[in-house]
Amino acid sequence: MCGIFAAVNQNPVTQHLLTGLSCLSYRGYDSSGIAVIENGLIRRQRAAGKLENLRQLVEGNPIQGLIGIAHTRWATHGLPTEKNAHPHMTEEVAVAHNGIVENHHSLKLRLEAQGCEFQSETDSESIAQLITFHLRRGMSCQDALRVALQEIEGSYGLVVLFRQQPDQLYVARRGSPLVIGRSNDGYFVSSDENALSGLATQVYHLQDGELGRLSTSLFRLRDIQGNQKACRFVDFHQMHVDSGKDGFDHFMLKEIHEQPAVFERCLRQYLSEDQERLEYPIPGSILEKVSRLTIVACGTSFYAGQVAKYWIERVAGLPVDVDIASEFRYRQAPLDQQSLAVFVSQSGETADTYAALQHARKRGLTCLAIVNVVNSTIAREADYVLPIHAGTEVGVASTKAFIAQLTTFLGLTLALGRASAYLGAEAERALVAEMLNFPEQMSQLISQKSMYSAISRELRHCSNALFLGRGISSALAQEGALKLKEISYIHAEAYPAGELKHGPLALVDEHLPVIMIAPRDELLGKSLSNLREVAARGGRIILFSDKEGIEECRDFIVQGHALPPVHELLQPLQYTIPLQLLAYYTALIRGNDVDQPRNLAKSVTVE
Ligand code: M6R
Repeated sequence: MCGIFAAVNQNPVTQHLLTGLSCLSYRGYDSSGIAVIENGLIRRQRAAGKLENLRQLVEGNPIQGLIGIAHTRWATHGLPTEKNAHPHMTEEVAVAHNGIVENHHSLKLRLEAQGCEFQSETDSESIAQLITFHLRRGMSCQDALRVALQEIEGSYGLVVLFRQQPDQLYVARRGSPLVIGRSNDGYFVSSDENALSGLATQVYHLQDGELGRLSTSLFRLRDIQGNQKACRFVDFHQMHVDSGKDGFDHFMLKEIHEQPAVFERCLRQYLSEDQERLEYPIPGSILEKVSRLTIVACGTSFYAGQVAKYWIERVAGLPVDVDIASEFRYRQAPLDQQSLAVFVSQSGETADTYAALQHARKRGLTCLAIVNVVNSTIAREADYVLPIHAGTEVGVASTKAFIAQLTTFLGLTLALGRASAYLGAEAERALVAEMLNFPEQMSQLISQKSMYSAISRELRHCSNALFLGRGISSALAQEGALKLKEISYIHAEAYPAGELKHGPLALVDEHLPVIMIAPRDELLGKSLSNLREVAARGGRIILFSDKEGIEECRDFIVQGHALPPVHELLQPLQYTIPLQLLAYYTALIRGNDVDQPRNLAKSVTVE
């Protein structure tokens, strides 16, 4: 999603701005732009489409200066065109903005009535116009910005250049992250700490309501009322950024292949010395008090929560609610103070999940974050954090983060089971022993390329697909459908198989591929009965089950793939792998951009 990069430096910044933008590009974007102060004037270049378009534009018509701002845009208000790309500017001011100006319509009407001429369809332009309006009424740069920010409703991470102050860069934050990096030659600013790698030695994470002014040698911080504030930079421990594909065709494929190692890293992070249990950095006194869990997340992280619900209810005997983050804070659910609220996010920056966390905190709940990016906003604001140790995930379609989220949830399940005395030591020992062997089994499953290619040929020309499962596999079916639709653009739905005859069975005919996830568990018999109902209506069934399950259905399925036996609690991790790979190979055979699917962003930082 939108990304900000800015620099004020003793050396020319244009190259830094372009490199900064390319570090942000994995988040997903559809246009980009930079603005630099050159010889006392603000100069700007913007381009729709890939960053390469902007790079070529800048090469053809170079702009150079010691201070500049840059942006990758993911369209929310207005088409992904050059005119809607950031920075937005007037003669006096240039602005790059992440977030949403909710009252942009009324601001625009008011400013147009005063003679301001808008150039774009975006909400963000209203910030540049509003600041300019206040400047023209005689305010100083800082006051014009401060007053404008007080009038804006919504969220922002903002970097601002003023023509009048060609050596000063302004930054402000409300609800959308910005981090300031200090180097020997000046300052860099970004919405994503990763983009500061190799540049900054120390960082400061701007807090909501703060407004900063930077020059090459100075950083001054105020609140929005204008009061000075102190701040403390901390040493920057750079996250290892996997920049290459390591010989794989796509980041997604590379990340799927990393999963056995990710699983093992995550496991070993929490493994006790005697290798018999998983120990989590949450005090026993907190876990023992938990009477209910509320898990809140979006997308794939939400489905990880759905899987966890089945585990925790079964192994720890605790009730679990799982909420879509964008719904959670608006549905006025009565929240129990003894609940543990768990926020799951790969990026740790998803706007809805973050807002849900703030909501739960206000209601006095203990908040636990399960995140990949440990310096993220969600991680910083939770009471407890469980990092999932997946490493940087670049592919927009989440894969290894899902596996790492499940692994972390499985450990949490064991910790809760122990705390509630629901889980015996022997059962835990047996599972941990199986977990130690599991990476090898994952690798074998990932290597079966011909099986996934065969399924992708089956799905290649479909417009729709149906994913089915029962019990915990119904949660996995949802993740399978999400993976397929987001990268192959095939419409896919997921249903608990038992729900089929209450409606979706009407969709089944000889054109509809039905992907059934039926591991050996207490529901297998019921799953296979549901499958017969599909077969009786001519559905083209692709079945993932164990050897006996496949044998039993041999005469009415189009394809059957047998997975080897594993501990029942590990089955969701195991059955995830074929779902990811069938989505990957289907997207590939359809010629889609696997790593950056259309319309999607890696990190969704607007509501
Ligand atoms: O960073 P988060 O885990 O909070 O992101 C949540 C979703 O946006 C994300 O899982 C999305 O659904 C992925 N594209 C799924 O592959």
